[in-house]
Order: sequence, then C-alpha cells, then structure tokens
Amino acid sequence: MIKFTIITLFREAIEPYLKTSMMWKAVEKGLAEFDFVNLRDFGLGPHKSVDDAPYGGGDGMLLRCEPVFAAIESVKASDPDAKVILPTPVGEIWNQEMAREFASGEFEKICCRERSGALAQVSLPPSNFSNSSGNCHYIILCPHYEGYDERILSIVDYKISLGKYVLTGGELPALIIIDSVVRLIPGVLGGEQSAEIESFSDGDNLEYPQYTRPEEFRGMKVPEVLLSGNHGEIAKWREEHSGTV
Ligand code: ADE
Repeated sequence: MIKFTIITLFREAIEPYLKTSMMWKAVEKGLAEFDFVNLRDFGLGPHKSVDDAPYGGGDGMLLRCEPVFAAIESVKASDPDAKVILPTPVGEIWNQEMAREFASGEFEKICCRERSGALAQVSLPPSNFSNSSGNCHYIILCPHYEGYDERILSIVDYKISLGKYVLTGGELPALIIIDSVVRLIPGVLGGEQSAEIESFSDGDNLEYPQYTRPEEFRGMKVPEVLLSGNHGEIAKWREEHSGTV
C-alpha cells in the first residue's frame, strides 16, 4: 500500500483525476490511499497568508517557511517516516526507473542538490523506507507561486522535475508522479498485462505498434505477421518495431 498526502492550495485541481479509472481502482483495492492537506489552514495572520515578497527584491511572491513546515510536520506527527517530495523545475528529471523505485520503496535519497549554496547536498546510501507493514507514505508539497523560500529544502527528501519547462504549480507534476507510481504497484493493473512488460518498464524501450479490429481501415492494413498466429514471428516483429527513447 502506498499513501500520498498532497499539500496544496488547489485540491480541486487534483482530486477529480484521482477519483477516476486506475487511480481510483487502486484505492478501492486498498493498494493506494490519497489524502489532502490544505496549506491555507497553516497560513499566517487573519488572511492565512502563505507567501511573501523575496528579500533583496524581485518580482513575485515566495512560499514562506512557516506554513510549509507546519503542514508537513502535521502529517509527520502521525507518520515520521513519510518522505517529502517537492516538484520543481530544478529537481531530478523524473523517469520510469524512479517511478519503479518509488513504487517499491527502495531508492537512494536523491536530495536537495545545492542550488543557491545555502544548503549542502545530502546523499545517503540506498534505503528501503517502507515500514514493517510494507507501506510507503509520500508527502507531495505543491508550490503555487513564483517559488519558495530556500530553507524549505531542509525538510524535503526529493526535488523532482517533470522536464525543462516551467509550470504554474506543483499540481500537474504531483498527478504525473502519482499516476506513474501507482500503476506500478503490483495488483493495480489487475488481470491486464502487467506494468512490468509494458512501455518503458525495462529501461528505455517503448511499446511496439498495436492493432485491433478491423483488419483493414480506410485502406490501412494490419501487418500480415500479426494475423499469422506464429508467435515466434510476432515476437520478432514486435522486438524489431519497439521504439526507444
Ligand atoms: N513546477 C513548475 N514547473 C515544474 C516542472 N517542470 N517540474 C516539476 N515541478 C514544476
């Protein structure tokens, strides 16, 4: 069982997806659990403010430390082993291998690479943090402003980037991380083809082209070999036509 606690100001942007299709099936099977924490609940002052202007000047507002630490600590109070993920364009680039490691709870602590010189890089030997019941708990912090106070990194275990582009907030990255991890939990894909032999799962292999009925559509024919019933030839064809990244 893997639990994700999502700390966000925009739960409504995330929740519908998690209540759909495979993600929800994983919940119903007891293999995944999703929980939300409203960062606003930990905001400061009468306006429950969570951000402020940067010291030294500059455009935009930064997430403040106090609400973020309080929100994370409120989750860790009941599960001190929970690991904190921060989606950020300057994190480690997310890939299938990382998704597999997160799904199994076995990975290296890829952590807090130095960005401003304010914090030292932390790198620990491989660890397995799933607790004795085999459960893993990830807290995903979704920033939604121009950035965050650098000291927030001291409470973060993984900085993860979805790619070299800038999104408005951490909600879309959170969904992508969750989806790609949850579908790899054994049992989530049910009787369907296992995630292990699907696209990407053995490294950089992409899926081979696939076809279903009809045999011919608007002049486009299904390759003859796939209709032949010759499993050896089909396997060879698929191997030859697998894409790579
Ligand atoms: N937040 C904003 N842009 C992002 C990106 N590319 N990856 C992860 N988190 C982000």
